[in-house]
Amino acid sequence: MCGIVGYNGKEKAVNILLDGLSRLEYRGYDSAGIAIRDKEIEVFKAKGKLSNLKDKIKDKKLNGTCGIGHTRWATHGEPNETNAHPHVSNDGNVTLVHNGIIENYQELTQKLFRHDYKLFSETDTEVLTNLIDYYYKKYKMGPIDAINRTMVRVRGSYAIAVMFKEYPDEIWVARKDSPMIIGQDSNGTYLASDVPAILKYTNKVYYIDNMEAACLKKDKVIFYDLNGDVVKKELKEIKWDVSSAEKEGFEHFMIKEINEQPEVVKKTINSLTNNNKIDLSKTGLKEEDIKRIKDIYIVACGSAYHVGVCAQYIFEDLARIPTKVDIASEFRYRKPILNKNTLVIIISQSGETADSLAALREAKNMGVKTLAIVNVVGSSIAREADYVLYTLAGPEIAVATTKAFSTQLIASYTLAIEFAKIKKKINNNYYQELINEMNQIPEKIKEILNNLTTNIQKIASKFSNIKDAFYIGRGLDYAISLEGSLKLKEVSYIHSEAYASGELKHGTISLIEDNTLVIGIATQEEIFEKTISNLVEVKSRGAYVVVVTINGKDVSKVANNTIMIPETNKYFYPSLSVIPLQLIGYYITVSKGLDVDKPRNLAKSVTVE
Ligand code: G6P
Repeated sequence: MCGIVGYNGKEKAVNILLDGLSRLEYRGYDSAGIAIRDKEIEVFKAKGKLSNLKDKIKDKKLNGTCGIGHTRWATHGEPNETNAHPHVSNDGNVTLVHNGIIENYQELTQKLFRHDYKLFSETDTEVLTNLIDYYYKKYKMGPIDAINRTMVRVRGSYAIAVMFKEYPDEIWVARKDSPMIIGQDSNGTYLASDVPAILKYTNKVYYIDNMEAACLKKDKVIFYDLNGDVVKKELKEIKWDVSSAEKEGFEHFMIKEINEQPEVVKKTINSLTNNNKIDLSKTGLKEEDIKRIKDIYIVACGSAYHVGVCAQYIFEDLARIPTKVDIASEFRYRKPILNKNTLVIIISQSGETADSLAALREAKNMGVKTLAIVNVVGSSIAREADYVLYTLAGPEIAVATTKAFSTQLIASYTLAIEFAKIKKKINNNYYQELINEMNQIPEKIKEILNNLTTNIQKIASKFSNIKDAFYIGRGLDYAISLEGSLKLKEVSYIHSEAYASGELKHGTISLIEDNTLVIGIATQEEIFEKTISNLVEVKSRGAYVVVVTINGKDVSKVANNTIMIPETNKYFYPSLSVIPLQLIGYYITVSKGLDVDKPRNLAKSVTVE
């Protein structure tokens, strides 16, 4: 999705804006632009990579210390220079960058045409820019009045940064349902759609709420509500360190983040345990709340949904709580049946995914309690949920999630174990055994990373040219197959499907030919033989079978290649089996020479529907 940065202070803005935009590249974009104010506001835009924009301005002397920048991921209108942001109102009075979508832009376009405005691009953003100009001139009451009148007139989602010609040392911002943070240090004030864009400069931020606006001066930020009244805010400290958003010698963010998993999983376990007992006090969930839960609905998108599929097995099997899992874009329109004792769990790395946020609101409207498992502190989902469990993955830059996924798994284990204990479905000994075993997960992930990389690189070089791959398993192994398959397809562009092994004979098996890659996950003792017999079926039809299984298991009769992972409790295998699957996705993509951190057409955080 689009990215926004802004700076107003003592330093030259151009370097800070370009650096910020480069840190937002991972969000996905197809054009970029900046507006810098010296005496006048100058706008530069380019289609394609940020390097095209850099080339365009390399000989310019840009001394301005106030500016805004944008990376655009096309929604309205094709990716070209005219549609790129910043947009400028007809007579140059308003310059603006925008993330989000203005839903009633067609109606607003007619309004602007009636007042003799012209539009040059195909974007809803240009409409927004001119609408602010229209209200600014009509009421002559300054920026906050123009912005507030615009906010009540537009429908949709937006985070905007605006410069007004007549207010030289100010940047104005506003937001609704699109992420934005505002930073400050002794050098000036900053704004960004995402923390990593400004983390190098400051870790002190303000969170701007929905339907609020703010004025960024060089030394302070003033917040306003929709009435134009000043709102007091506190500067908050972000606990992520700068290096966590750098590659630190790794070739790509994805492999760096894969390797960070032992550490962030450990941190997340530590934050949810105390004296070897689970401690959910930071989430706000109390024992009485847990006792009341009769059923659980887990709602999420992408990989976070796959965590939900894993969690569903564990909540039902371990805690015996009926659990459903749904894709957020389905849930929000499904008219789900929830009752007052349902707990809705929203899982989201960014905390800003539009469908997940809408699902959360839908659940809240039905009067149901909501728990968010979120990575980004202060994000919309975190702020709106009744209870929040923060994962401690740190900033995740690669579009394909790895470390956030692993920490979300830990979050669901701790919830399931605690719920099982409170609902008296497990005894104290088993409770303790589960926690002791969970504590071993980081070391076991480390062991997998140390031991398996070479074998996986071999598989990757053999299969980098394939067109299709299949991932199969049963139970939790099926749940993790979904994630393994997504990891491969999203970065390598190889068509890949995950199938519940028992379902193979209902369709997929007809696609198996000589040398089709089938990755079987077989970690669940109770259904182990059944998965193996499904693998025998595909092997006898010519498939090349890779089996991910537990150390010591003999799968030689079926496996062309075996990936062995350490033993653990049956519920925790997803945390271990996902590691080789992430590595397979990564190394196949690298051997194809593709941009593994920024796969085409994808965005890290999908903030529009
Ligand atoms: C995008 C990302 C995925 C992520 C999904 C949900 O598609 O590429 O990695 O799983 O969004 O994002 P969230 O931030 O809600 O976890």
